[in-house]
Amino acid sequence: MSETIQSSRHLRPHEITAEQAAVEQSLVDTVVASFDKTEDPRLRQLMQSLTRHLHAFIREVRLTEEEWNAGIAFLTAAGHITDDTRQEFILLSDVLGASMQTIAINNQAHKSATEATVFGPFFVTDAPEIPIGGDIAGEAAGQPCWVEGTVTDTEGRPVPGARIEVWEADEDGFYDVQYTDHRVAGRAHLFSDEDGKYAFWGLTPTPYPIPHDGPVGKMLEATGRSPVRASHLHFMVTAAGLRTLVTHIFVEGDPRIDIGDSVFGVKESLIKRFELQAPGRPTPDGRDLSGRDWARTRFDIVLAPAEV
Ligand code: BEZ
Ligand code: FE
Repeated sequence: MSETIQSSRHLRPHEITAEQAAVEQSLVDTVVASFDKTEDPRLRQLMQSLTRHLHAFIREVRLTEEEWNAGIAFLTAAGHITDDTRQEFILLSDVLGASMQTIAINNQAHKSATEATVFGPFFVTDAPEIPIGGDIAGEAAGQPCWVEGTVTDTEGRPVPGARIEVWEADEDGFYDVQYTDHRVAGRAHLFSDEDGKYAFWGLTPTPYPIPHDGPVGKMLEATGRSPVRASHLHFMVTAAGLRTLVTHIFVEGDPRIDIGDSVFGVKESLIKRFELQAPGRPTPDGRDLSGRDWARTRFDIVLAPAEV
């Protein structure tokens, strides 16, 4: 990819003649007008705006035909590697910040509501239910971590019965769905109690790379970017009448937070202290960890009203 970019002519729009600019603009206008009769006004707006921005990009960078071909080859490779468990286009959206921009537009800050962040490709719908205080780890390896908190609305009222989905990678940086043995590990759902409280055993999150063995990984390499994500634990919280929250918590002190998260998901308010506990220290629920060290953290979740 970098070879193609180096061979481009780097002409700037102001270096083209007025006649050439008119030819180019006329094509933009014709394509935009081709969508004029679109019945659905929103679809019309999307297609016409996309046309304008796409042509503006092509004209601004003076795209060469080789580069256009390379772009098509890139998208074709993304299509080929995509299947039921691997979604290269979402990865592309993530590393371009398009996912986080869409989240920002659709989850505007509301009072004290917890901020949203990127969904990622590793959520599955039918994770097992655990009781409050249960363990999501299964056979996923890692340091046990006690996670507790409350679910409230922005008026501070407890939200009982909120459905809390949690999922995370093991200490080797893999989600269960990335193994071929159909294990279910490092994921579960539970419900907040009548006071809005919840707690569970998970694993202390560690950094891991997003899948980078495909075209998106090649693009990151060609541009000198790392595929590694800051350590995190995923949450999705749903409750009637309240805005569904998709978020993570990040580990305070993780150097990746400053180096940069490959999908731009970190928000200051989501960085939490994970307190390391000495081996043998009594656990909150009396669980016997056979002398292992463990960690604990707190995440109080505030849900915005559904309509804001
Ligand atoms: C993740 O957090 O698991 C993730 C997010 C975006 C892209 C790839 C992975
Ligand atoms: Fe993740």
